[in-house]
Amino acid sequence: MPDNSVRTAEPPNSLTEGHMVRELLRRSQEPTIFIIFGASGDLTRRKLVPALYNLCCSNLLPEEFSIVGFAVTPMDDDSFREAMKEAVKESREANPYDDKVFTRFASRFRYITADFTSADGYKALGGIISELEQAANRCLNRLFYLATPPSFYADIVARLGENKLVTCCCGPNDAWTRVIVEKPFGYDLKSAEELNTAIHKVFDENEVYRIDHYLGKETVQNILAFRFANSIIEPIWNRRYVDHIQITAAETLGVEHRGAYYEGAGCLRDMFQNHLLQLMSIVAMDPPMKYSGSSVRDRKADVLRSILPINPENLGGTAVRGQYAPGTVEERGVPGYRQEDGVRADSNTETFVALKLFVDSWRWADVPFYLRSGKRMARKVTEILVQFKRVPHLFFHLGPEDQIEPNYIVMRIQPDEGIALRFGAKVPGPEMHIRQVQMNFSYTEAFQVQPATAYETLLLDAMLGDPTLFNRSDAVETSWSVLEPLIDIWHATKPFQPFPNYASGTWGPATADQMLAKDGRSWHNVAETNGSAQTYAQLEQYGEPVSAERSHGPESADGPDRPA
Ligand code: BG6
Repeated sequence: MPDNSVRTAEPPNSLTEGHMVRELLRRSQEPTIFIIFGASGDLTRRKLVPALYNLCCSNLLPEEFSIVGFAVTPMDDDSFREAMKEAVKESREANPYDDKVFTRFASRFRYITADFTSADGYKALGGIISELEQAANRCLNRLFYLATPPSFYADIVARLGENKLVTCCCGPNDAWTRVIVEKPFGYDLKSAEELNTAIHKVFDENEVYRIDHYLGKETVQNILAFRFANSIIEPIWNRRYVDHIQITAAETLGVEHRGAYYEGAGCLRDMFQNHLLQLMSIVAMDPPMKYSGSSVRDRKADVLRSILPINPENLGGTAVRGQYAPGTVEERGVPGYRQEDGVRADSNTETFVALKLFVDSWRWADVPFYLRSGKRMARKVTEILVQFKRVPHLFFHLGPEDQIEPNYIVMRIQPDEGIALRFGAKVPGPEMHIRQVQMNFSYTEAFQVQPATAYETLLLDAMLGDPTLFNRSDAVETSWSVLEPLIDIWHATKPFQPFPNYASGTWGPATADQMLAKDGRSWHNVAETNGSAQTYAQLEQYGEPVSAERSHGPESADGPDRPA
């Protein structure tokens, strides 16, 4: 007879209670030095230090934790501490400032003013590490963070190797050394391969943590939970039931003060090579054997390797690029991309991309994955929509006012984090009328806690040695090889519809809509009703509007891009 009794998992014998508690708290306890290259920059101020401060507030940093800042901007230990104090106070992501916590957090801050290629800087770094180790009377873990312009990454790593800063100097011990590498990882496939080679000369792959902050978002990790911790989801998550998938990462911000960087990057490199393809790989992956670095990353890599190559000769209907013109965003007039600081007046850099991709696998053959991302769009929203096939047969006698739409699930990554399921329901009354309604799960309502920021999760994971949410070298290279044909052709040709081709505050160029319309589909432009946003709670109450008018620039047929 089958044994249907409920069992609780027994901890393996090797796990003591102490281990269990540590695992639950996920606290990193080993003394660690966190060395930030680029410590005077934006990323350190806006993301890294606020995240570390939050970890300190939650008691999740090791007792002995030092930060060594390394950057060209002249500062000493005290002024670095002051600058970081301001950063915490200003940050919207940091917990409220608490002088007692900050004093503890910053008590071991050190700062080195040096060029990233100067021998003196690395000598000073070696000196500080030895000093800290002598004071602790033991070897200390070293976590290097590359938050500099990417052109310095290979140089810094080589110098860490030359100066013997990667191997601990005090004999056999259990201290580790790891390096976190910020995106962008390479500029194209060749440069990514070169960077991997340069890093592997000094670090083993298991010591390299390539960061993609999207993977640290609670809602992105929840895709795995939603898919694999619920028995009703996985059986329908395939070509038999799914009509198509949309992944949208829309921003209302423009390029802000990053015009010069963005000119050399564009939306494909900035958002697709990393965040969008990572989201796609998590949505499409097969179940991993376990929740661990290699298992999860193997399955994600399978997806990336199975993406059908983009054919640069035939982009019509599969790839659209756009650039924002002046317009109105959140009731404020904003300039076009070409008017931003650091941007050329005739720039053809794309600020919007929509792609149709296919995963050539048993699970996903012929199911289109529509991906789009853009700056200065109508709303800030990152979401994944899984649209299911229509019912095969309708036996209701319905009128034109009835809505029979396919079901979909929307996973809202940000904001208004949650998951919605749309389905048809009978409108109350004597006759059979159907209307679309939504069931909605909201993180805020369900859990009533402020989730950790992505950087908190990722920095803690790197300290704990858990690489699951970081990119492996092969995945980074495969992502580049997926996009490279498109990058090359777009570089060599002018846009078919001259830039700029969408007004700020809209959902992108009309050609992106036409791309889906050709397939008989349309983008899910979330909660757009007469230009005003509706929350999911409102939608749940009133149902979704039948169709929302779109506002766009001039209509144009899609077509091949023109030679440059
Ligand atoms: C970064 C890009 O990686 O992600 C930015 O470089 C973009 O251009 C940002 O604005 C978006 O992140 P988020 O978390 O706000 O969606």
